[in-house]
Amino acid sequence: MESTDGLSDGGARRRVSCLIMDGVFSFAIPVLEEMGIPYIYFRTISACSFWPYFCLQEIIDAGEVPLIGKDEDKLTCWNKKEMDMMVTSVPGMERILRLRDIPRFCRVEDVNHPGLQTMKIETRRTADASGLILNTFEDLEGPILDEIRKHIPNLYSVGPLHALLKARLESEGMESLHNRSSSFWEEDQNCIAWLDTQPASSVIYILVGNKARFHRGNDTGNENEIPMELEEGTKSRGYMVGWVPQQQVLAHPAISAFFTHSGWNSTIESITLGLPMLCWAYFADQITNSRFVSEVWKVGLDIKDTCDRIIVEKMVKEVMDVRRDEFLERAHSMASLARKAISEGGSSYLNLNRLVEFLNSTVS
Ligand SMILES: *[C@@H]1O[C@H](CO)[C@@H](O)[C@H](O)[C@H]1NC(C)=O
Ligand SMILES: *[C@@H]1O[C@H](CO)[C@@H](O)[C@H](O)[C@H]1NC(C)=O
Ligand SMILES: *[C@@H]1O[C@H](CO)[C@@H](O)[C@H](O)[C@H]1NC(C)=O
Repeated sequence: MESTDGLSDGGARRRVSCLIMDGVFSFAIPVLEEMGIPYIYFRTISACSFWPYFCLQEIIDAGEVPLIGKDEDKLTCWNKKEMDMMVTSVPGMERILRLRDIPRFCRVEDVNHPGLQTMKIETRRTADASGLILNTFEDLEGPILDEIRKHIPNLYSVGPLHALLKARLESEGMESLHNRSSSFWEEDQNCIAWLDTQPASSVIYILVGNKARFHRGNDTGNENEIPMELEEGTKSRGYMVGWVPQQQVLAHPAISAFFTHSGWNSTIESITLGLPMLCWAYFADQITNSRFVSEVWKVGLDIKDTCDRIIVEKMVKEVMDVRRDEFLERAHSMASLARKAISEGGSSYLNLNRLVEFLNSTVS
């Protein structure tokens, strides 16, 4: 936020009154403190993955990290049973988090690993800020948000942000602003036309990362290249796309489930629409998000570390058929809680107002 410092309009120098910054931006703090400028963190991850990051020192002190296993790149070592042991050092998650569910940064041999240390130190600094913004909502992550509040009392849970933004713009008669995509990649609209030709709830939307369309699981091949046999074999009943208008795809009636790597945007967009998920987490916060999807919110399945073609086939059947009603019922009730959070008087709605008030108060 900017304010003028009292000079007349023409020559006014702009003063920064508050900085809203990303999670690993702490190099700016000494300058901000020297200039007396308040700052707020905006972490774009879930509360359930932020919280173990915040507790990394406690996890290390308890000897639960570094995780066993010598070779970080070998998936096979994560198949070990030891990885199913519960993590006891993250308050509020004692019955949820296994070793395999703590963020990928912990999958190192040495506690002094720079990635792990950076994450630990940067996240802890959040407690020095004037506040923390998270793209989540109270009915989704309440117990974890309460744990975070013990260290960071001024917490603004304002999610699902994409839906809150849409609702607020509509209520102000500015919906035309909403259809602007924030994507730098060209979105393929043909996939919507293809979806239009499919029966209701018959398609599973598979997203494997931001750029790669299909990973071959083979480091020597070109990652972005789709294996010929896969392309040929799925032509009649599938549609491959480089970059999709995701919210439009997820909201399409033909879609019945989301096979996702469990990034937070994807997860919360899916939750907002009441779509069951099949989670193939890959790194960072995804590892924890997928655990919450399956064990806490119970709106999908988590196949991390165990993924092979037989498991994938079995789990797709579970999500699209065998346990479909059970997942759908919970997904729908979570979606209605998301709508409640962003409606007038809801928790995210009020938190956004409170954030705006705070920002205004910094412009004096
Ligand atoms: C994630 O969601 C937010 C809020 O809707 C949006 O502003 C942002 O562009 C999204 N990020 C990506 C990578 O799509
Ligand atoms: C967004 O909405 C405006 C007004 O409704 C319309 O003119 C414009 O073409 C839309 N843009 C996109 C990218 O859909
Ligand atoms: C990986 O892919 C390359 C290129 O297609 C191929 O020549 C090679 O045999 C593959 N390696 C393995 C281990 O599958």
